[in-house]
Amino acid sequence: MSSELASAAKAMVAPGKGILAADESTGTANKRFAPLGIPETEEMRRNYRDLLFTVPDFGKFFSGVILYDETIHQNGRSGKSFVDILHADGSFPGIKLDTGTFPLALAKPDEKITEGLDGLAKRVEAYVKLGAKFAKWRAVITIDEKTGIPTDACLHANAHALARYAAICQAGGLVPIVEPEVLSDGNAAQSIETSFAVHERTLHHVFNELHRLNVKYEEMILKPSMVVPGQKSGQTASINEVAQATLTVLLRYVPAAVAGIAFLSGGQGDEDATAHLNEINLLAQKAKAPWPLTFSYGRALQHAALTIWKGQDANAAAAHKAMHHRALMNSLASLGKWSADVESGGLVLSH
Ligand code: 13P
Repeated sequence: MSSELASAAKAMVAPGKGILAADESTGTANKRFAPLGIPETEEMRRNYRDLLFTVPDFGKFFSGVILYDETIHQNGRSGKSFVDILHADGSFPGIKLDTGTFPLALAKPDEKITEGLDGLAKRVEAYVKLGAKFAKWRAVITIDEKTGIPTDACLHANAHALARYAAICQAGGLVPIVEPEVLSDGNAAQSIETSFAVHERTLHHVFNELHRLNVKYEEMILKPSMVVPGQKSGQTASINEVAQATLTVLLRYVPAAVAGIAFLSGGQGDEDATAHLNEINLLAQKAKAPWPLTFSYGRALQHAALTIWKGQDANAAAAHKAMHHRALMNSLASLGKWSADVESGGLVLSH
């Protein structure tokens, strides 16, 4: 099927390109600034996003950037709007449309629902006028085997909200990124086997609802979590085990027509997120997987640069270098061309 949205979705997962998640809400951005002593102000959030979006070769690595409402209205330090800066680099501006997660009423403790559907068609219209080309909505699924979550009720409610959002986006002219995140950070204690089973249930619910609400798979991007053990599980899984589990669940539950898959990093270490993506791509090439598999990381792309920058202009060049390196490493991983040697600089491989 060819349509403007299908072409845009394809461009978002073009070979070697990924999507930068820079849509931290004001609260989350401030939380990341605080330990580094960076003032929690609108100006510093603007300066930080300016730092990220002016990394050399930006458009070579990033087909798009997910923005938060504050950022999509801001100008960079050059005086040009961020939307224009990204367009000039050949990178699509995108917008986070959900308004956060809240307790799911009458469900078990820790089960959440994502809000933001009221008035969404009007908000989509306004963001399209501002220049947005795509959007994101994140649902979070928490696993706790002691309390028996996630329940089917929670999976269904979140899948339904994702499908409502995706349909409204497509009707209004935005490519929806559909993000069902099975949490593995914080207190997550599940084994990789349990994570696999919950990913199966989650993706089954999500594609059921997307189908029911007539969402066009060719005009959407799936942003899933990888199948990893919970950070508090005490279990370690090899790079290959994670890649095998992740690709298997995607091959079982994601229709071939989906334009592409762009993973979140979900609290993985920077290099782990790259190594996993690379291995997934190597296996996907062998399995002749039907979709491109790339990155849409937030923390795993930004962490090094933010830690070096610390809000100081004097550190900008070093922060750019760190961000450029991570962007290049993930770009290579999205092609199955990354290695530990390339990572450490032992093997110089340009994009
Ligand atoms: P992380 O890569 O830090 O998980 O963020 C991606 C994202 O967009 C979360 O919604």
